[in-house]
Amino acid sequence: MKRLIQVSTLVLAITGAAFGQDQSKVTNTPHNLNNGGWGISVSTPSGANQVCLPCHVPHNAYPDESGTINDVLWNHQETAVAFTMYPTDLPQSNQPEGASKMCLSCHDGVTAIDSYGGTTGTVTLAGRPSAIGENGDLTDDHPIGVTYPTGADGYHNPANFTGVVLVTVGGDDRVECTSCHDPHNNALGAFLRRTLDESLLCLECHDK
Ligand code: HEC
Ligand code: HEC
Ligand code: HEC
Ligand code: HEC
Repeated sequence: MKRLIQVSTLVLAITGAAFGQDQSKVTNTPHNLNNGGWGISVSTPSGANQVCLPCHVPHNAYPDESGTINDVLWNHQETAVAFTMYPTDLPQSNQPEGASKMCLSCHDGVTAIDSYGGTTGTVTLAGRPSAIGENGDLTDDHPIGVTYPTGADGYHNPANFTGVVLVTVGGDDRVECTSCHDPHNNALGAFLRRTLDESLLCLECHDK
């Protein structure tokens, strides 16, 4: 009996972070790098469990190498990968920019998730399903960096969106990673902005 109690306590301890807690807050999601058993402790002499720190810092943000990402006090090393984008006839950025570049600075499977605050970490997402841009390949992922074809047949008017968002980069309203995902809110799972039930996420944009 004692053993059983110990085992169930252990199971609870492991799943506790992801299970039964309000995942609309970063602390309880996989984006709290203290979760997930990575062996990363996001603590500094100035404070414990700083969930925001791998991505944001109030001062002296990470040097902005691409010149496109640092409008959110970004604190994570930028991906250096040259990506192959999903082919499209629509206007599209040559490489991921803005928030998409921020996501791929962990989800490329190469850049260490603990490379933040100017230090070089060691833990990557290599080989995991979460390594979306692994080997620089975005050709098997929903297009990003594309300008939304407002007014075109088969597409809903953005004025009627209730969940997804378009991201304005360089004056264009684009589909980026953050069109479908909110990195701070995992209440729907997969950090989605809109439910996959009835494919409602897809049907916000696609009129099919
Ligand atoms: C895993 C990375 C990650 C973590 C952790 C994270 N953020 Fe963010 N945050 C982002 C990204 C990426 C953006 C840019 C998103 C965009 O442009 O829509 C952003 C944007 C923001 C913005 C500006 C846009 C907005 O949504 O209001 C604020 C404010 C912000 N984050 C606050 C926080 C705070 C506070 C925490 C900790 C509780 C936090 N973030 C944790 C990735 C993260
Ligand atoms: C600081 C590193 C970091 C950044 C930046 C980051 N992520 Fe993550 N993300 C992670 C880690 C770590 C996980 C857990 C991966 C795993 O378990 O394989 C994760 C998991 C996810 C998941 C899966 C969630 C689930 O419920 O399983 C999604 C979706 C996701 N991230 C999307 C994004 C998007 C979109 C952005 C940019 C807006 C982003 N991430 C930026 C580190 C990051
Ligand atoms: C058009 C919407 C859309 C866009 C754009 C998009 N995603 Fe996703 N993503 C999804 C959906 C839907 C899922 C959940 C799929 C599922 O649960 O089967 C998902 C799942 C994920 C996961 C979890 C994969 C896993 O199996 O663990 C990660 C990580 C992720 N996305 C990151 C990204 C990143 C990084 C970008 C930008 C390069 C991006 N997404 C762009 C819709 C999108
Ligand atoms: C934020 C708006 C938006 C959302 C949400 C969205 N899409 Fe898309 N989708 C687009 C745009 C824009 C394109 C680019 C179309 C093109 O290249 O002509 C696209 C392209 C596609 C394509 C490729 C078409 C081609 O010609 O190669 C498919 C398939 C697709 N989306 C399916 C989905 C599915 C499934 C979902 C939900 C999981 C989804 N989309 C969510 C806007 C969106």
